[in-house]
Amino acid sequence: MRRLCLVLVLMLHLSWGFSSTVPPPSSPLCLPHQRAALLQFKNSISITEFCPDDSYAEHPKTEAWNKSIDCCSWDGVVCDELTGHVIGIDLSSSCLTGSLLANNSLFRLHTLQWLDLNYNDLHGSPLENTSSLFHFHGLRRLNLAYNNFDGTIPSELFSQLVSLTHLNLSFSGFSGIIPHQISLLSSLVSLDLSHYSEDLTTLTFDGHGFDMLPRNLTKLRYLVLDNVVMPDVALTSFINLSSSLQRLSLYDCQLHGEFPSQLFHLPNLKHIDLGGNENLTVYLPKTNWSSGLESLDISDGGGFRGSIPSSVGNLTQLISIDLSGNWFEGQIPDVFGNLNRLTSLRFSSCNLSGPLPITMSNLTKLTTLDLSYNYFHGPLPDYIFDLVSLTALRLSSNNLSGVVKSDMLSKLTSLEFLDLSSNSLLSLSTSGKDVNHSFPRLATVLFSSCSVRQFPSFFQTSKLEYLDLSNNMISGGVSKREAEGWEALRELYLFNNSLTSFEQFPGQSLLILDLRFNLLEGPILSTCLNLRTPNQQLFRVFLISENKLTGNIPSSICTWSSLTLLDLSRNNLSGTIPECLGNFSHDLQLIDLQMNNLTGKIPNSFANNELSHLFLNDNQLEGLVPPSLANSTKLKILNLGNNKLIGRFPYWLTSLPSLQVLILRHNRLHGSLLRSIASSNFSSLQLIDLSGNEFSGPLPTKLFQNLRAMREKPKWRSSYLSFFQYQGGEFSTGYYQTSVNVTTKSLEIELMKTATIFVCVDLSNNRFSGQIPEEVGQLLALQMLNFSHNNFNGPIPASFENLAALESLDLSSNKLGGRIPSQMSKLTFLAVLNLSENNLVGPIPHGNQFNTFDSDSYIGNLGLCGLPLSKQCNNHGEVEPTAPSVAEHEDSQVPFWQVVMMGYGSGVVLGLSLGYIVFTTGRPWWLVRMVERDLQYKFTAWIRRKKPKRN
Ligand SMILES: *[C@@H]1O[C@H](CO)[C@@H](O)[C@H](O)[C@H]1NC(C)=O
Ligand SMILES: *[C@@H]1O[C@H](CO)[C@@H](O)[C@H](O)[C@H]1NC(C)=O
Ligand SMILES: *[C@@H]1O[C@H](CO)[C@@H](O)[C@H](O)[C@H]1NC(C)=O
Ligand SMILES: *[C@@H]1O[C@H](CO)[C@@H](O)[C@H](O)[C@H]1NC(C)=O
Ligand SMILES: *[C@@H]1O[C@H](CO)[C@@H](O)[C@H](O)[C@H]1NC(C)=O
Repeated sequence: MRRLCLVLVLMLHLSWGFSSTVPPPSSPLCLPHQRAALLQFKNSISITEFCPDDSYAEHPKTEAWNKSIDCCSWDGVVCDELTGHVIGIDLSSSCLTGSLLANNSLFRLHTLQWLDLNYNDLHGSPLENTSSLFHFHGLRRLNLAYNNFDGTIPSELFSQLVSLTHLNLSFSGFSGIIPHQISLLSSLVSLDLSHYSEDLTTLTFDGHGFDMLPRNLTKLRYLVLDNVVMPDVALTSFINLSSSLQRLSLYDCQLHGEFPSQLFHLPNLKHIDLGGNENLTVYLPKTNWSSGLESLDISDGGGFRGSIPSSVGNLTQLISIDLSGNWFEGQIPDVFGNLNRLTSLRFSSCNLSGPLPITMSNLTKLTTLDLSYNYFHGPLPDYIFDLVSLTALRLSSNNLSGVVKSDMLSKLTSLEFLDLSSNSLLSLSTSGKDVNHSFPRLATVLFSSCSVRQFPSFFQTSKLEYLDLSNNMISGGVSKREAEGWEALRELYLFNNSLTSFEQFPGQSLLILDLRFNLLEGPILSTCLNLRTPNQQLFRVFLISENKLTGNIPSSICTWSSLTLLDLSRNNLSGTIPECLGNFSHDLQLIDLQMNNLTGKIPNSFANNELSHLFLNDNQLEGLVPPSLANSTKLKILNLGNNKLIGRFPYWLTSLPSLQVLILRHNRLHGSLLRSIASSNFSSLQLIDLSGNEFSGPLPTKLFQNLRAMREKPKWRSSYLSFFQYQGGEFSTGYYQTSVNVTTKSLEIELMKTATIFVCVDLSNNRFSGQIPEEVGQLLALQMLNFSHNNFNGPIPASFENLAALESLDLSSNKLGGRIPSQMSKLTFLAVLNLSENNLVGPIPHGNQFNTFDSDSYIGNLGLCGLPLSKQCNNHGEVEPTAPSVAEHEDSQVPFWQVVMMGYGSGVVLGLSLGYIVFTTGRPWWLVRMVERDLQYKFTAWIRRKKPKRN
């Protein structure tokens, strides 16, 4: 019986409420020319390859269309019972694909009253130049939603279809300006032109085009224009919307100004969505709301200040309210007690404060409660755990306190998503009484940055997929017993705790395990991890840097054949690197073993895989740079610095097409750089650091001609950032970048291991000789250049004046002669200059940055004169012999690098707020990255998935 009802509901839905598609026996047969037109249409359009055949929701309706059956009984065709004319076609979700052009026979069915082609894959520009062909004058409903049509909406659609009452062109693929003729559709009751926000194309209403619409479309009840771009539309136009209006949806339309609050008084209004208009100010009325209002969304609006008006308490029909991302402040008014239809309440990211109001305890129908990113304080009220309908609870980033106990949580039997992160006084604990609680639907628990002290093994028997307990105070370990169960667990984040042991991987389905920044000690295999436990084919990400691991890297790690990221860095691992490490997983993108105590040779086993980041720096590795690295054609970053590598410059690296960063600093490499470098070589390189080796000979000019990525004008470099996006479970949005722990000024600052966004050449502390090639001056993107402590002679190339992006230049301790090119004063970004200990002569340039360098930049050049040195120049620009010679301090080796702070601005890149600082300590280059961990995106993704597709 239940199944039958479902089928009936679906049929009703699909036929848009028209009672039955089967004509009564007495009805006339369909007309031959109409049948022919329908068959012709069938033949002009294909069925997509994968079309479910047995599903009511989607199936190939036209497939069974067949000459031998009366076309009035074809699936999706409705005829007039008296005349036999085809009056309706419902081919929604019919797996249709192909080009629907103006000459299609479908458009000859001039008796049509409704046409539904939504949810297909139709393309083309169906109604272009249709004035002669188009005869749908009686058409009342047209639904082309969810297709892939091209080009602009043809104006004929509006000028000819003046009888339309329902028009749905949402997500249909049309772009460009909406024709003004739309206001001819004066019978329209429902209009939906929503667009995909991610699309590169936009659908635009110009101010004039929209102005007439509310005046002329006096019967409009539903107006949905989400993501239609309408910045020029005067907000006063909306005042003219008809009093019949029931739904107004203007999500992310780029509206700006003050929204006319009259609209909130429209007598029939049920749904209003003004969200995502960042420059739109909405004042909620203090009285006289449309009393039937069921949903209100003004999220992410423009700077509304003030408190939430208590008039909201009169909206007794309210089902959903979203005021997130505004500037509402003060307490939540205590007026929600009567809104007992409310299922979704979202007040995230406002400035709300105070304790959580008691009247919310009445909202027992709530399924979504989101009060995250506010200033709520006080104990987490018990009633929260009596809101038993909740599926998503998000109270993260507040100042709530208390202990969330397992028995409280287990009352929320519908809960799927729980985010209580960043409430520093909140902890999670077992109730002590009965630990056999169940959490039947809970899939995601975010409890990061709180005060959890113990690993919550009471989730063992749950369906939990994603657990984030990072940044807590969990000490002790995870025992074998505690690791039993966890059948569904896919992602486990425990970084930044005080774990001392981790005997076994929980569950069998783990994809991601992040144990960075803990106190794990002993050998990987025996004391802390049983590597056989995870499902070897599933396991993708293993991060355990910054612990106290000792002993060897076990070669059994190579059984993880799907591993993507492996980070064992910053431990005290010793012994040799297993030979299999270069080729055990086809998906391997990152290997990070830096800052351990590894010895022996680097394995020469690198195969052609996905490897893009390899960090083996700061170990005791010996031998050659392995030639098999030439197989890793996707390599972007290679850091082998601070080891004991020998041999000549590994020329095979130069042909890696993606290599952006090459660091070989502080090894024992020797010999000259290649003279015969092919023109494609090093084309992506942005950072090369060969400092502290024994390289010798002159620099090949060809090298600098090839460095294409450095020769291009500096541009916005976000694309060079190295994020790893790893596919995890449902909330598969992990981002990871390798880092060390530095915390300053209450920001979480992470030091990047490489400076991928910096364009830098460091050849210092070698035995290079000869002249500096003029071609260096062609590296227009260069930000840092260090040739110090070599044997370069000859002049500083005049071409250096072109290095407009240069921020620091060190040519000290060479044998450079001649004058400092005066044009170098054009380098307005130059913050650090060191030309000391050379044979430079003549006047020091002045102007711009050159007025800021002090004498330390020039000491040890006896022939230099002029400010900031005390030696004055004579008329020929030489040292004035009579000038008093103030002793320059030979030993005043100021720390060469000061901290250089650079404003790279900050932006939001996929939920991470980034800013950059660069500094060095005279030692390696580091990039400092401030990362504000933000889980907002996870929740948003979750909410989106929950939102049914609008029809
Ligand atoms: C408004 O609608 C009427 C009746 O359909 C029509 O004659 C008139 O041209 C329309 N005005 C505009 C500006 O479209
Ligand atoms: C909002 O206003 C700011 C400042 O005028 C502007 O930069 C921004 O582009 C506007 N946003 C939208 C979506 O119009
Ligand atoms: C709520 O409605 C009642 C009766 O309709 C009215 O008297 C009262 O002023 C309203 N309160 C607010 C805050 O609008
Ligand atoms: C909670 O709801 C009940 C009835 O639904 C009502 O009588 C009571 O006043 C409400 N409580 C509050 C605090 O508004
Ligand atoms: C590195 O390993 C060697 C032996 O291989 C050992 O002598 C040395 O103490 C280790 N260094 C550190 C810092 O543990």
